[in-house]
Amino acid sequence: MRTGKRLLSIWQRSWQALENKRRSDKLTVQHGDNLTQQAPHDDFVVFDRVQKSYDGEILVVKDLNLSIARGEFLTMLGPSGSGKTTCLMMLAGFETATHGDIRLGGNAINNIPPHKRGIGMVFQNYALFPHMTVAENLSFPLEVRNMGKAEREGKITRALDMVQMGAFGGRRPAQLSGGQQQRIALARALVFEPELVLMDEPLGALDKQLRETLQFEITRLAHNLGITVVYVTHDQTEALTMSDRVAVFDDGRIQQLASPDTLYERPENSFVAQFIGENNTLSGTVVELADGKATVRLDSGDVIATTAVNVSAAGDRTLVSVRPERVEYNVERMKPDAFRLQAEVLEFIYMGDIYRTRVRVAGNDDFIIKTRNAPDQRRLKPGETIEIGWLPEDCRALDA
Ligand SMILES: Nc1ncnc2c1ncn2[C@@H]1O[C@H](COP(=O)(O)OP(=O)(O)O)[C@@H](O)[C@H]1O
Ligand SMILES: [Mg+2]
Repeated sequence: MRTGKRLLSIWQRSWQALENKRRSDKLTVQHGDNLTQQAPHDDFVVFDRVQKSYDGEILVVKDLNLSIARGEFLTMLGPSGSGKTTCLMMLAGFETATHGDIRLGGNAINNIPPHKRGIGMVFQNYALFPHMTVAENLSFPLEVRNMGKAEREGKITRALDMVQMGAFGGRRPAQLSGGQQQRIALARALVFEPELVLMDEPLGALDKQLRETLQFEITRLAHNLGITVVYVTHDQTEALTMSDRVAVFDDGRIQQLASPDTLYERPENSFVAQFIGENNTLSGTVVELADGKATVRLDSGDVIATTAVNVSAAGDRTLVSVRPERVEYNVERMKPDAFRLQAEVLEFIYMGDIYRTRVRVAGNDDFIIKTRNAPDQRRLKPGETIEIGWLPEDCRALDA
């Protein structure tokens, strides 16, 4: 596997470069260069006004401010090209920031030699060294840290057991399935007991079932071992199910940084509302804004009550966002203060656990309603006209 060799050589080169830099720094830097200073609890990893440009012109990371606590599982989530890998590579030390600082445990990252960073890494394409056995792959990061043979063997056994691969130490990567290789990559990242593990789309190449199993295993291991994880994915389900907090990236910026439930239920802008989960949008203009509530005239002419989130004045264009499961059509279940609108059923899909109904409402033909399959729930028919309703607090006026 070429990637393995490439990684090995990047690793060795970066290491050498940083070692050289450290030696020269030693000659010039005075005693104030403090490597042992402890950071406050919630500032284990800090990105401080970080910018990155590869070509000296375009900023691919624009103004990144992010503090990650010790023991936290933080996910960088965003579309391809939004700058996630670049951030991870800067944190690992394989890329340097164009502006700003990255600190680890209170120290600027450039001042910490790689073997003292305590960073483990896992990539999408496993990046195991193909010419080495599984045990040799795990031994590598320990040898690099000058660990003795007996201690190495103990740690390798423990790490392999941790990922339920104890019997595979003698195999080569090519003799393992994708899921097994990824478990080994995980064990190799954990074997030297790093404080921080960086994972870049580690499950991207696996099938759905295996991905879900490993999602669970990774979060369990991370929490049991108390390690800090910075995890990168473009898969929103993965981000929501695994993380303590999620930083949603777009175009080199964090669009929102919050816990999974906050991101899903209280998105702060249209990008986040669209990117996380399924979302209905209705476009309109704010006619009145007061006390955190916005009255919006939809382009269809309907006037609705919403929660004002990302609008600033009457006259603003807005995209109103409503989650499909917050829309009710069963009159008996509808809350008295629900806002009601007429809708025409266009499509009804029975999905077992839920019903998924597509309706036309306020000129939008792609408005989705998700309803739990319950004994009192009616299955709708295309062509029917119904009344649908939602609570104003479930309906958010965001930027257009
Ligand atoms: N080594 C590189 N040289 C030049 N441009 C790069 C390099 N790596 C990434 N980029 C560019 O930086 C942007 C962000 O890329 P990346 O951090 O890989 O995003 P993501 O991981 O979110 O998909 C993209 O436009 C990408 O083309
Ligand atoms: Mg990437």
